[in-house]
Amino acid sequence: METSPPLDAPQQTALDQVLAAHAGQAGALLPILHALQDRLGFVPPAALPPIARALNLSRAEVHGVVSFYHHFRTTPPRGRVVQICRAEACRALGAEALWAHAQAAVEAQGRDTLEPAYCLGLCAQSPAGMIGARLHARLTPARLDALLEGDAA
Ligand code: FES
Repeated sequence: METSPPLDAPQQTALDQVLAAHAGQAGALLPILHALQDRLGFVPPAALPPIARALNLSRAEVHGVVSFYHHFRTTPPRGRVVQICRAEACRALGAEALWAHAQAAVEAQGRDTLEPAYCLGLCAQSPAGMIGARLHARLTPARLDALLEGDAA
């Protein structure tokens, strides 16, 4: 069986705090996973056994949820997380071409991590994206290139 690196001290602290914040909460698995990824940028595989124990679930159940949802990362993202919305409203206004452009651009710059998103709440201003914690409306390939060039999130 593959072993994962143990949690480091900050990761363990984050996990302890997240578990404590959701102690006794029904259906806490997804909120715990979201909170941990928000804190650490990813869900370390070594966090899955303690999460399973805390929720009285099997490791397989927790692993199954983490691997089912594409949103969850099990390795740290490279640089900023760049999300391009690929849901309906954005697709209707060119999001697929923007996604293809983003794939090539992020690959070429080699600093950031590209992920799809499925509605960022900016449907009326499509196509939308997010770089770090900042939303961007009416994205074009040129605007995306400029944002990728800059250091701002
Ligand atoms: S469909 Fe893209 S922001 Fe809603």
